[in-house]
Amino acid sequence: MNNNFQKVLSVSKWTENLFSFKITRPKDFKFKSGEFVMIGLPGETKPILRAYSICSPNWSDELEFYSIIVENGPLTSKLKNIKKNDKIILMTKSTGTLILDALLPGKRLFLFSTGTGFAPFASLIRDPESYEKYENIIVTHTCRNINELNYSRSIVNECNSNEMFQEIIDGKLTFYQTTTREKSDFFGRITDKLIDHSFYEDLKIMPINPDQDRVMICGSLEFNNDLKKILIEYKFNEGATNKPGEFVLEKAFVG
Ligand code: A2P
Repeated sequence: MNNNFQKVLSVSKWTENLFSFKITRPKDFKFKSGEFVMIGLPGETKPILRAYSICSPNWSDELEFYSIIVENGPLTSKLKNIKKNDKIILMTKSTGTLILDALLPGKRLFLFSTGTGFAPFASLIRDPESYEKYENIIVTHTCRNINELNYSRSIVNECNSNEMFQEIIDGKLTFYQTTTREKSDFFGRITDKLIDHSFYEDLKIMPINPDQDRVMICGSLEFNNDLKKILIEYKFNEGATNKPGEFVLEKAFVG
């Protein structure tokens, strides 16, 4: 079987059911920022593997993942107990559509996520190539409650506080978080905020337009479909890795 074991370097718990962890990256493991890979743990008869977006940018020495704990989930109910120095299976091939190459050139890049769908964007907003290709990157994250936004906040804080990143990002990164069940500064579904224009008003930006803007979507199936509908009304064309377009989407994976 095409897999190998990697060592867990650290585990961070974000809420009762959200955690992230870092593992060693084999020297020959190549990936594009925004891609996912199968990872897992040994099972009774065969390994239990699931698709996980890689949160690390492609230049990183480590591989970081962000996971929800699914009650009775075959993998996450075990994965939630991992600790430093434990071993995790990492398959050798990464793939996915949320990559810069799947989009035509543009000026602004919008990254819309819900829940663990933020993971591929944690990779892309830490990749210098994103800032070479776009004048502005606007990343949004929507969750039910405020504490579920802690991980994305910490990644963006890392971007804004690290000297090397500051130089690369050069004020191009905008972050917008909304909650839907607990009151916060920005309350409501991002889809509703796009429709009623409060998203543009809050950020003081022009509405999205396929002539200059590119979009990536990562969340639940319903979220992806609803946002796709909005983009199609705006006349955006969907892209793929073999046919770049104006937007791409991928379902957030749940272990
Ligand atoms: P809501 O609380 O209004 O359902 P979930 O935890 O169900 O995966 O959802 C994560 C976040 O995504 C929640 O804030 C949820 O809002 C939001 N969401 C779920 N479905 C959609 C959708 N179809 N369009 C926009 N936002 C959605």
